[in-house]
Amino acid sequence: MKIPILDLKKQYKGLKKEIEARISKICDNQSFVLGEEVSLIEKNISEYCNTQYAIGVNSGTDALILALNAMGICKGDEVITTPFTFVATVEAISLVGGKPVFVDIDPKTYNIDPGLVEAKITEKTKAIVPVHLYGLCADMDPISSIAKKHKLPVLEDCAQAIGSTYKGKKAGSLGVAGAISFYPGKNLGCFGDGGMVVTNEEALYKKVKLLRNHGSEKSYYHKIVGYNSRLDNLQAAVLNIKLTYLDKWIDQRIENAAFFNKNLAGCSITTPHVPEGYRHSYHQYVLRSKDAGKIVKHLLDSGIESRTYYPLPLHLQECFKSLGHKPGDFPESEKLSKESFAIPVYPELTKEEKDYIVATIKKV
Ligand SMILES: Cc1ncc(COP(=O)(O)O)c(C=O)c1O
Repeated sequence: MKIPILDLKKQYKGLKKEIEARISKICDNQSFVLGEEVSLIEKNISEYCNTQYAIGVNSGTDALILALNAMGICKGDEVITTPFTFVATVEAISLVGGKPVFVDIDPKTYNIDPGLVEAKITEKTKAIVPVHLYGLCADMDPISSIAKKHKLPVLEDCAQAIGSTYKGKKAGSLGVAGAISFYPGKNLGCFGDGGMVVTNEEALYKKVKLLRNHGSEKSYYHKIVGYNSRLDNLQAAVLNIKLTYLDKWIDQRIENAAFFNKNLAGCSITTPHVPEGYRHSYHQYVLRSKDAGKIVKHLLDSGIESRTYYPLPLHLQECFKSLGHKPGDFPESEKLSKESFAIPVYPELTKEEKDYIVATIKKV
């Protein structure tokens, strides 16, 4: 049996007619950049995330860059974040001129450890960027109270966490702003790159809106130097359709995760920890074991695709060498990168496939 880590073809099969009709309408109108579908998805996502505003941009990376820029982060500013995330989080901080300051992860949730944040705050600290890794929200209450005490804005990296909740509140509504990715493999993915900034702050909304379109409100008049980071109408149309299925898909992911948790109990393997009051959206279902290498090899040999997110924490990446870190600086992140691996959890997995995955892991 062959089971990929994600099978988007299965999802597309069920939506093909609906999507093609909507795309065809846009092609008939030849209205590709921004447009009605973009305005609609902005309205829909702001309602879904429970925020006042949403601005479509052309990737999750740009959502982070534009939000940091709108928060005024610039050269020399320190921004606290986790070294155990996709590179884009830290790239965004660097690209606006900021200095990433890492805080190690909590070994249970794999998210930034709030207990270690305050020690890293200096007079140069200008923001905190927690990441809701794999679809589990970071512990936002202590992060928010530290941020409030030090008057720092919090930008949530929600790239992997649309639809996740923390104590009843949606990811993206917990900080000053949230950055969402619609990369095709995300729980809500479009047919290319796409992203969104969500916020309750009017000034930030206005600034990001200007930034995404060359600093312009009126064609050929430019208030600030901006970017070309517009979400296009075709991507927005796909997202408007897919959004109506998102909660059902997340529930199926949760069901699959519960199946794996139950059936792997008793194995010497750590299943994801979900604290009370969180909704994990299981963008990834990540297992942890000292024998990760052996298990992954056996899975691959058995036709089951498995990935390690992420094999090298960011403080040890060549591109961030100038930050001067060395092995041992963030031990929990380093340990996790050697012991963790994701298995397929997508909504369309069949019972037979899930049984096969469990049986294959149990063999090791
Ligand atoms: C945690 C995290 N942040 C940011 C991004 C960047 O999103 P995009 O690929 O849409 O630019 C990703 C994408 O994988 C991500 O996982």
